[in-house]
Amino acid sequence: MRHFLNTVDLSRNELARVLELATHRQESLGWPLADYGVALIFEKPSNRTRQSMEMAVVQLGGHPIFTRGEEVGFDVRESVEDITRIMAGYHAMIAARVFDHAVLERMASINSVPIINMLSDVSHPLQSLADVLTMREEFGSLKGKTVAWIGDYNNVARSLAEACALEGMHLRLASPHGYGASDDELARIAALGAASVEAFDEAQAAAVGAHAVHTDVFVSMGQEADTNQRLKDFAEFQVNEMMMAVADRSAIFMHCLPAHRGVEVVAEVIDGPASRVERQAHNRMHAARGLLAFLCEANDITKGDTK
Ligand code: CP
Ligand code: NVA
Repeated sequence: MRHFLNTVDLSRNELARVLELATHRQESLGWPLADYGVALIFEKPSNRTRQSMEMAVVQLGGHPIFTRGEEVGFDVRESVEDITRIMAGYHAMIAARVFDHAVLERMASINSVPIINMLSDVSHPLQSLADVLTMREEFGSLKGKTVAWIGDYNNVARSLAEACALEGMHLRLASPHGYGASDDELARIAALGAASVEAFDEAQAAAVGAHAVHTDVFVSMGQEADTNQRLKDFAEFQVNEMMMAVADRSAIFMHCLPAHRGVEVVAEVIDGPASRVERQAHNRMHAARGLLAFLCEANDITKGDTK
């Protein structure tokens, strides 16, 4: 059974296949989810992920069922394993946004339907698919292009790094001391096929010559108690016009959203001509459709099968 818990659950060729399927509109994909349900469970709030996944399921002929985390109560109302086994009888796939990545691993270990990560403390692989799709639309092949990450080496950064490495890009990762990738993590990303991987403790230096400059919030969901400390620690890591000025002449700015203008990015950049955040967010739906179609292919889920 093929699951999607991390971007690297896909090989380089499979990532290319997902991105190719993402460019197909629903008619040509043959409604593989017709008559199926897909469970979407959220332990945290969402705009883009919920909307894009619901629409992607509909575009493949399926029926999405949104459920709040507290309704199912992972390990509170019943065990993660019981929830997964029961839902697998109703749905072709189960997708979840969770606080603890281990919950997704336990769901996948039941191995009865594909499990999809809609964001965990470790990774946000669906976001990374839209990120590379958007950069490909801009630049064509990404091999040898340079991506700069400015800020927290968090769930979004980890998945982006994996996707960019699979695409053969140069990676420049700038984070304050204590918030960056470990040496082991840098080696892991390099081994995935990145053209190069460099860590910086200064933001501006990482942006020099970059084709795409990415950032994310300084305080992720679940880290609210550390807000004051984080805002202090990240003060020098705001993406601003000076930083974009040292990037490549045709550089674009990207952010998974939601964004805080005046905190991790100035309004002049996120609302300026280099920004691709709207396109990036809209690509979440196309990328999700590509991923779901790929999982149907990979798991022999075809229209008309009955559970
Ligand atoms: N980028 C992203 O995952 O947004 P949501 O939290 O709104 O789903
Ligand atoms: N890093 C952020 C991403 C939100 C889409 C978070 O985990 O809250």
